Amino acid sequence: MEYQAKELFAKRDVPVTLGVVLRHAEDARTAAEALGRRVVVKAQVRTGGRGKAGGVKLAADPDEAVEMAGQILGMDINGHTVHQVLVAPAADIAEEYYLSFLVDRADRTFLCIASVEGGVEIEEVARANPGAIAKVAIDPRSGVDEAKAAEIVAAAGFPATIAAEAVDVVLNLWRVFVAEDASLVEVNPLVRLGDGHLEALDGKITVDANADFRHPDRARFQDAVAADPLEEAAKTKHLSYVKLGGEVGIIGNGAGLVMSTLDVVAYAGEKYDGVKPANFLDIGGGASAEVMANGLQIVLGDPLVKAVFVNVFGGITACDAVANGIVDALQMLGEGANRPLVVRLDGNNVTEGRRILEAAGHPLVTMVDTMDDAADRAAELAAKG
Ligand SMILES: Nc1ncnc2c1ncn2[C@@H]1O[C@H](COP(=O)(O)OP(=O)(O)O)[C@@H](O)[C@H]1O
Ligand SMILES: [Mg+2]
Repeated sequence: MEYQAKELFAKRDVPVTLGVVLRHAEDARTAAEALGRRVVVKAQVRTGGRGKAGGVKLAADPDEAVEMAGQILGMDINGHTVHQVLVAPAADIAEEYYLSFLVDRADRTFLCIASVEGGVEIEEVARANPGAIAKVAIDPRSGVDEAKAAEIVAAAGFPATIAAEAVDVVLNLWRVFVAEDASLVEVNPLVRLGDGHLEALDGKITVDANADFRHPDRARFQDAVAADPLEEAAKTKHLSYVKLGGEVGIIGNGAGLVMSTLDVVAYAGEKYDGVKPANFLDIGGGASAEVMANGLQIVLGDPLVKAVFVNVFGGITACDAVANGIVDALQMLGEGANRPLVVRLDGNNVTEGRRILEAAGHPLVTMVDTMDDAADRAAELAAKG
């Protein structure tokens, strides 16, 4: 979140104002009083586009700060509920710029993107006027030194009056990128203030989780994040679950199969009002009744889900065991199993597996032989649901 990114910026001398983070609107009064001037109240959620969504508001006095905080807390921004707001001094903005470092997988290098046309319309600038956005590749062996930073500042066309300060910001932001094992650091907007100095008014950092062991302090950032309750429940049951936001719940065994299932469902969904996969859920190798029940419970816990596609390829766990798992899971869930299930079984002992499901004759279950047809059926049911 922005306030966390700013903490990490501050550690490496990228200019920021930290402000106060709070969860209750009334606390905005004390914060605004302490800051003693016009403030900005900003939603703290892990998504961009807060400004456009109404999640960034100026307040002239402490009363208004409380009012704005009240409006923003609880707001939904791109599917993220706002539980915290940042109250910071309103900056006197002369110009808004854009600056980021990221991993450029296509070119197998690091990339700096910089523009003097930053702000909330940066995507529009990139589309309509790509020439206004400088992209400078960075050799990972040499990184960013003074000369490279000067090259970036010149390529972006930062005004001469702030060029020297911009070089420092570029160098320090690069230090953040390296020191934090980040795959992205982004400042939008980096602003020139009325007094001529630069300040990062927003910040985003994506860290590489593979490097978590080098950063024991990161856990506190995780804790502060309002985790999705279903993702939490899945974690405690050792299932790898990611909510995606569509209508077709997906359960499969094996990450590769689940990924392909997402693709075929997204493809099939185009025919049916663009219904989409609701989640990634890999139940892994042993599709026992308990594991299947846990998986179904989590997927059905998402109210957006209108139909579920269970796609299992029997390997070490044979299809008959999976079929029994599904039958038992439906029994365990009882009333909780309340949306249609499309099941595709294939692989080891498939004939016996299909026989078991057939014999159980559960009214919610449809069996389909191929993955494509099953995806189509699940998408159709979700569209109807
Ligand atoms: N401290 C601030 N003072 C004044 N205006 C601000 C401040 N922070 C943000 N803004 C304005 O709000 C816009 C959006 O804020 P930002 O933090 O970039 O959120 P997001 O990128 O999620 O929309 C900025 O481009 C800037 O114009
Ligand atoms: Mg921004």
